[in-house]
Amino acid sequence: MKKTRLAAIDVGTTKVCTIMADADEAGIRVLGVGVTPSRGLQKGMVVNLNEARDAIKRSVGMAEQSAGYKLDTATVSITGRHIHSTNNRGVVAISRREETVRPPDVARVLEVARNVTIPGDRRMLHLLPLAYTVDGQEGVKNPVGMHGFKLEVETHMVTASATSLENLVKCFKGAGVSVDEMIFSPLSSAEATLSTDEMQNGVVLADIGGGTTDIAVYKDGNIIHTSVLPVAGYQITHDISVGLGVSWELAEQIKMKYGSVFPIAGDSEEMLSEGGNSFPHSQLTEIIRSRLEEMVRLVLMEVPTEDYQNLLRGGMVFTGGSANLPGLAELGAEVTRLPVRVGMPPAMYGVSEKLNDPAFATAIGLIMWKANDRTGIPVKATAGPSEGGGKFLGLFRKK
Ligand SMILES: Nc1ncnc2c1ncn2[C@@H]1O[C@H](COP(=O)(O)OP(=O)(O)OP(=O)(O)O)[C@@H](O)[C@H]1O
Ligand SMILES: [Mg+2]
Repeated sequence: MKKTRLAAIDVGTTKVCTIMADADEAGIRVLGVGVTPSRGLQKGMVVNLNEARDAIKRSVGMAEQSAGYKLDTATVSITGRHIHSTNNRGVVAISRREETVRPPDVARVLEVARNVTIPGDRRMLHLLPLAYTVDGQEGVKNPVGMHGFKLEVETHMVTASATSLENLVKCFKGAGVSVDEMIFSPLSSAEATLSTDEMQNGVVLADIGGGTTDIAVYKDGNIIHTSVLPVAGYQITHDISVGLGVSWELAEQIKMKYGSVFPIAGDSEEMLSEGGNSFPHSQLTEIIRSRLEEMVRLVLMEVPTEDYQNLLRGGMVFTGGSANLPGLAELGAEVTRLPVRVGMPPAMYGVSEKLNDPAFATAIGLIMWKANDRTGIPVKATAGPSEGGGKFLGLFRKK
């Protein structure tokens, strides 16, 4: 792999994070980082174009300054309740003469899988091949050379609302950034935090940010489900604000300073005071614990089977800024009886000290996604008739 320049921008509800890096066989080296507060987003979606554009501009400007060169193209994250995922199958017959799967058969079956019609107001974001089936034999990773008559592929398709997607692209354009590829946030966070063993054994990842909890479920090494919940850190702060009768800003400050799931050992009645308000620590932890407990249950409900113990032998992994709350993993294990841990993004070379926090899993995952070439099947603009179905969207092309 020759040295490639990469750039990633994660536009979250709380912060915008830009990473400029280069990658070669020796690894990824971070050259510039820009983290600025986010504006104009709610629950992961753009609600004010100008504010969002300006926030992106500030973050990119800061990263450019530390990298010492200009960023023109970036891989970006996208999330929100408008994103849906389904698993689709494609089936083709293998030529009678050959009776062996050849590369053109694989290309044909992927083409069939890609040819699903999606509503005119939606765009395809990802089409990821999961596994092949040759004459009923399931779970084949590479079918080329196998004997058979029928080849099937199972794919994970992610689609987004055209309006939400185009609004986000507009913000990037306005900030002078062309979008190379858009990655659904939980896929990116998973790339940064999950081990291949966890993905193989079955794992649910939940990135609890400010406005959304982004979920990805893996089994047998494949993504099998993705979804977005509209509850995250903001709701915890809101509960603290209501429960302690303090302003939202003070509640956020209290959460960052004293927030935890369980009271300090042996002294649950210890009084805390902040901004002129006093309250027992146990009152704060109860507020946080009950909201987080509900969130853990909501995440579990997204797992596409009731027998989650069996599906998720690799357990549950929490990341995102809210995974900083001490005791979250213990609470998760108590509720689910699964192995639960907090997923930190891997340490990077270069100017990356401040990225050592679960809040940066998505941004680091975007860089890793590109470095590891995870794009999958290039998707078409199958959306509306006005788009001219069949044409590749330059935006999502595979390099
Ligand atoms: N040390 C901490 N303790 C408790 N909460 C924290 C801590 N650090 C960050 N958070 C919370 O994490 C949230 C921000 O997380 P993150 O940076 O992952 O969000 P985001 O990516 O901007 O938003 P989203 O992914 O929801 O669009 C905020 O609600 C913040 O209060
Ligand atoms: Mg996020």
